[in-house]
Amino acid sequence: MAGARNRVEVLHGVNLDTLGRRDPEHYGTLTLNELELQIKRFARELDLEAAFFQTNHEGEYVERLHRLPDAADAAVLNPGSWTHYSWAIHDALEVAGVPAVEVHLSDVQAREKWRRRSVLEGLVVGVVSGEGVAGYRLALEMLAKELGR
Ligand code: DQA
Repeated sequence: MAGARNRVEVLHGVNLDTLGRRDPEHYGTLTLNELELQIKRFARELDLEAAFFQTNHEGEYVERLHRLPDAADAAVLNPGSWTHYSWAIHDALEVAGVPAVEVHLSDVQAREKWRRRSVLEGLVVGVVSGEGVAGYRLALEMLAKELGR
């Protein structure tokens, strides 16, 4: 609905399409499709509209961010390992200029040292890490607030 400001796009990055086959200790057992169904349910409960995007190609992720303001009022980003080194994604999110929350299924601070840095630092309104699927609900709650809902 025009003017509703309730559209949130969830952008999954590289390797997130392999959920369900990746190390369940870090990433749980849900497939990406099952994860998206859960997120859709969380969104509905919060009166938000969720849309989804996944790619393993950094340039496609960047281009999706460029077009984001036409499609969404806010974003949830889990760029996978790009989080830790892709300054292109940092710059593209800056261009997008929509409120965003960064989510990681695993606790990136408690793993290898290279996972501790995020290129999104300073651009996002919040970071949720290590909460598994529930982390996406927390992210949507943050964005609902940010959108004044
Ligand atoms: C991840 C954490 C990243 O370090 C990793 O490269 C991923 C997934 C997470 O959701 O926990 O691919 O973003």
